[in-house]
Amino acid sequence: MSIQAKPLHSVGVHMKRKEDPRFIQGKGNYVDDLSFPGMLYLSLVRSTYPHAEITNIDISEAMKVPGVKAVITGKDLEAAGLGWLPTFHGFDKQMVLAIGKVLFQYQEVAAVFAETRAAAVDGAEAVQVDYAPLPVVADPFTSKTDKTLLRPDRESKTNHIFHWEVGDKEGTARALAASPKRIKQRLWFQRCHPAPLEPCGCVAYFDTMGRLQFHVTSQAPHVYRTALSLVTGIPEDKIHVISPDLGGGFGNKVPVYPGYVCAIVGALKIGRPVKWIETRTENLTSTGFARDYHMDVEIGATADGTITALHVATTADHGAFDAAADPTKYPAGIFGIVTGSYSFPVAYAEVDAYFTNKAPGGIAYRCSFRVTEASYAIERGMDILADELGMDAVELRKKNFIRTDQFPYPSALGFTYDSGDYHKTLDTALEKIGYSQLLKEQAEKRARGELMGIGLSTFTEVVGAGPSKHFDIIGIKMFDSAEIRIHPTGAGIVRTGTKSQGQGHETTWAQIVAEELGLDPQQIMVEEGDTDTAPYGLGTYASRSTPTAGAAIAMAARRIREKARKIAAHLLEVGETDVEWKDYKFQVKGVPSKTVTMKEVAFAAYTNMAKNEPGLEATFYYDPPNMTYPNGTYIAVVDIDRETGEVKVRRFLAVDDCGTIINPLVVEGQIHGGLTEGFAIAFMQEIQYDAEGNNLNTNFTDYLVPTSLETPHWETDKTVTPSPHHPIGAKGVGESPNVGSPAAFVNAVVDALSPFGVRHIEMPITRSKVWQAIRDAEARKTV
Ligand code: CDP
Repeated sequence: MSIQAKPLHSVGVHMKRKEDPRFIQGKGNYVDDLSFPGMLYLSLVRSTYPHAEITNIDISEAMKVPGVKAVITGKDLEAAGLGWLPTFHGFDKQMVLAIGKVLFQYQEVAAVFAETRAAAVDGAEAVQVDYAPLPVVADPFTSKTDKTLLRPDRESKTNHIFHWEVGDKEGTARALAASPKRIKQRLWFQRCHPAPLEPCGCVAYFDTMGRLQFHVTSQAPHVYRTALSLVTGIPEDKIHVISPDLGGGFGNKVPVYPGYVCAIVGALKIGRPVKWIETRTENLTSTGFARDYHMDVEIGATADGTITALHVATTADHGAFDAAADPTKYPAGIFGIVTGSYSFPVAYAEVDAYFTNKAPGGIAYRCSFRVTEASYAIERGMDILADELGMDAVELRKKNFIRTDQFPYPSALGFTYDSGDYHKTLDTALEKIGYSQLLKEQAEKRARGELMGIGLSTFTEVVGAGPSKHFDIIGIKMFDSAEIRIHPTGAGIVRTGTKSQGQGHETTWAQIVAEELGLDPQQIMVEEGDTDTAPYGLGTYASRSTPTAGAAIAMAARRIREKARKIAAHLLEVGETDVEWKDYKFQVKGVPSKTVTMKEVAFAAYTNMAKNEPGLEATFYYDPPNMTYPNGTYIAVVDIDRETGEVKVRRFLAVDDCGTIINPLVVEGQIHGGLTEGFAIAFMQEIQYDAEGNNLNTNFTDYLVPTSLETPHWETDKTVTPSPHHPIGAKGVGESPNVGSPAAFVNAVVDALSPFGVRHIEMPITRSKVWQAIRDAEARKTV
């Protein structure tokens, strides 16, 4: 089902920001293109040590560098009451510039402002910082017991940040103990990084009215405005946040970073615009990392493969500050979705988070706050259970799926799944990929000693944060909003509190308005990201835009339709109750020849409205009644070279169910991009630290991003199970491929290696890991 009566693919409605005076300051539409008279550049001095006392900072040489205007340190900020920045979910705070000691390599230590970018960098290099190294805690497991206290600033004198749990602990333990079959496996979802094409950056200045103009790469401009007001004390009406075009975000552009605060302080103190653009190395070493969950997964089952219980115990490495951008009530994000697509009678999940001398973060990298970790845990766990039972992974899943008659389904960990048809989605995928043929081929290849693997992931996720009774960021409830204005000629504008970073809202938001009002989507302008014009919203991340703002647009459009009905009645010379909305027009009930279009009504709303209120616009703030639960079946087929360990992904099929689809082409683009990220995570990417706390992946030669040469060919398909509570039945989809695909890749590789007795292999699955696993197995055989 698509919401358009006529199939509308990419209609290509885009804001012409180059022609908009508010954005014309530079040569393009990105923050780095902006240029203002007298603008200074900011470069940050960063720590070379992961843990050290700062014994002295000497800025005298830096001040001699031609072009350098000012240098500020943590002490200067502390004196101004800006030494620390609260993190978004309210559990911790973060130093803006190091005060007294540094806690991770590449931590921000001082800020240098100069006339040119080069002078700022030279100035930063000339700042002399003396360090006295301290013992390093680089492992969350040793952090538990380590005598080195990393955060003496905190009340609780321990490296343990929080314990979070959900479910029935005793019931789960009892059920596991009574289960004839049990598996237990530690799975690590490695630390990785979103790596958007455009790194983070901002330009800050105070205009002639003393108002802060803040152009910034933000996925949540309104939250930035409120947070900046609360932190700096600048009244919120004196802050204008503009998030222009963004070159990707993926969760990386949700938190407020020290560079932003320094740019604002510099602009205030020096009285000139300040630009900060992060380098790639700064991006990979200091802004929001993702994942880093060590998960002990335990599943119980009967001998015939009926699941009985799930227990997942996680040790989380949060780095030096707990800067996870999670909703307040969810310190471990929405990890409770870890029961996945399966009908577990009882379950229990717990997470313990620790500080280490690593960069802070814990962001939702294309993921609804830890849903990716949860999905990986259960989808790997089910494959390991299938192996233990000697059952086909498909058969095990089908036996334990939540059935269609169980929806709305109350999960053992407290969610109410809205809708889904997991058997149908899986069957669609099996048929499309030719599963039985693949099994036959695999058996033949195995007989010849060749390594071929088939891996499944039949995930369910939870997106659309979220209902106000559960979800907030710094206390602000996670609703979203839309404002629609229809102009006299039937063209219009829609503004929302979300912010596209390449997801195509410019197209899909216009389509929702067009669908609801029978107007031309090409003439509906979409604007987001400007806090002066857009209604208040919580932004775009965690696939929340369609479930929240998408719903708000439909509801605002329906408000307009109700107002328009009155004007239509006037034009049709009948009573309002005699008018119905049919086939994208107002029609006199039972008289198909008497109609009036929305375009005609729009003109009348400004020229011939009779006694009705003039104008045609509406605003809607949408507080979702529930989350949406998109799901999918992904199947990977791999071949492995047993001599070199090279894994070739021969086929990959993604069958997604995101409810009603607004734009098939946009959705397909989302799937392709997310699968490419999932592929990179599974096979290439890890932010590694050595035992001394040194970051080993500081650039794109050490942190690999796949090009078109490495990326497999993606096959896609869909099933459509509309969400019963969303106004147009749509569920989010942007994160599904990143959430669902890593397990499919790993399951396929482990399946290929199963003749060697391999049961698990950690991501990223490099060639050397595979080669080693084969050599180890061969060595075992020899013995
Ligand atoms: O919050 P974010 O925009 O990242 O994620 P989303 O809500 O999943 O939407 C990603 C893009 O896919 C948007 O342009 C949506 O309007 C579009 N989409 C769609 O066309 N149909 C759906 N059922 C879900 C999303």
